[in-house]
Amino acid sequence: MNSTMRAWHLVPDGQAFRLELTTRPLSLPGPGRVLVKVQAASLNYRDLIIQKKLAGREAAGRIPLSDGAGEVVAVGPDVKRVQVGDRVAGCFFQTWLSGRFDMRHHQHDLGGTIDGMLCEYADLSAEGVVPIPRTLNYAEAACLPCAGLTAWYALMTRGELRPGETVLVLGTGGVSMFALQLAVSLGCPVTAISSSEDKLRRCRDLGATHTVNYRDFPDWDREVWRLSGMRGVDHVVEVGGPGTLGKSLGCIAPGGHIALVGVLTGFGAPAASLFPLVGRNARISGIYVGSREDFLDLGRFVEVQGLKPVIDRTFAFDQAPEAFRWLEGRQHVGKVVIRIGSQG
Ligand SMILES: NC(=O)c1ccc[n+]([C@@H]2O[C@H](COP(=O)([O-])OP(=O)(O)OC[C@H]3O[C@@H](n4cnc5c(N)ncnc54)[C@H](OP(=O)(O)O)[C@@H]3O)[C@@H](O)[C@H]2O)c1
Repeated sequence: MNSTMRAWHLVPDGQAFRLELTTRPLSLPGPGRVLVKVQAASLNYRDLIIQKKLAGREAAGRIPLSDGAGEVVAVGPDVKRVQVGDRVAGCFFQTWLSGRFDMRHHQHDLGGTIDGMLCEYADLSAEGVVPIPRTLNYAEAACLPCAGLTAWYALMTRGELRPGETVLVLGTGGVSMFALQLAVSLGCPVTAISSSEDKLRRCRDLGATHTVNYRDFPDWDREVWRLSGMRGVDHVVEVGGPGTLGKSLGCIAPGGHIALVGVLTGFGAPAASLFPLVGRNARISGIYVGSREDFLDLGRFVEVQGLKPVIDRTFAFDQAPEAFRWLEGRQHVGKVVIRIGSQG
């Protein structure tokens, strides 16, 4: 093993951060730790939020990206849970193993408060990794930790999705495409909305029942309502935030569930009234990724169903800044991946 590794880290640059390639020392893992040779990583909108400082978060010197997968190459002296040679992915929250969320987990989020996966080797908690599905390669597995798990946690753990219930996904990014695939696998009709006909065609290819171009239908909630037979949708995976929540409330079915996931339209206060929830006996849940237990459930489901993450484009390690710009350009459908190792 080398004594150093290459990593990208964030360097202050005006009001934001820029990515800079750097060298970090490499040492054997200590007690309770494992060293993972990272083969592939993937980007999430959250990585743009951090890099562009949209939420004001301090991240100078941080190695970005929550999502990566690779092979365990060394384990700390007392580690039993994981062995050298295991194929693993890191958990977004290194400490959230199961049960209810606890605020202390905010101090242990990969690529946020602690170093992430955009590096050749990641020193992770032995508790904070899960085996990757045998049906996935490293690039595919690197799509699961944030986008895949968030969609699973939103629909399954918190939404208690039942076969046959209807699901609405907004846009065609990483979380939304996973939500679409999970719902379709469970026999749940999906409506997808997007800015582009090409992207909507991809959604139909993936099994969406209804598609709506929100540029043609600025009041897309009315069209979703109409397509649902004036009943509304049972689940909304709400990745838009303040700019879309009102419309999501406008097309939620009685007894339905809105999983409040994202902030694509910003962090401001929604102008929407929440009272449609009362009149429709519906509910709304705040969603923040998911626990290790949820991640294990997702992995089993992905393996049994043979579900393959939708990868839009793969970049080389040296092209990490281009990968960020590609995600920012919103041309993608599904996930943007960075290949790091020779097997990535
Ligand atoms: N709470 C959590 O645990 C959690 C976890 C993961 C993600 N998130 C949040 O969920 C959201 C989606 O994340 P992601 O990683 O799936 O995103 P992503 O892959 O970057 O997807 C972005 C896509 O959303 C659509 N979109 C619509 N309005 C947009 C806007 N104003 N700005 C950017 N994109 C817009 C576009 O697709 P179309 O052209 O098809 O409309 C765009 O390509 C983000 O806000 C992210 O922070 C939250």
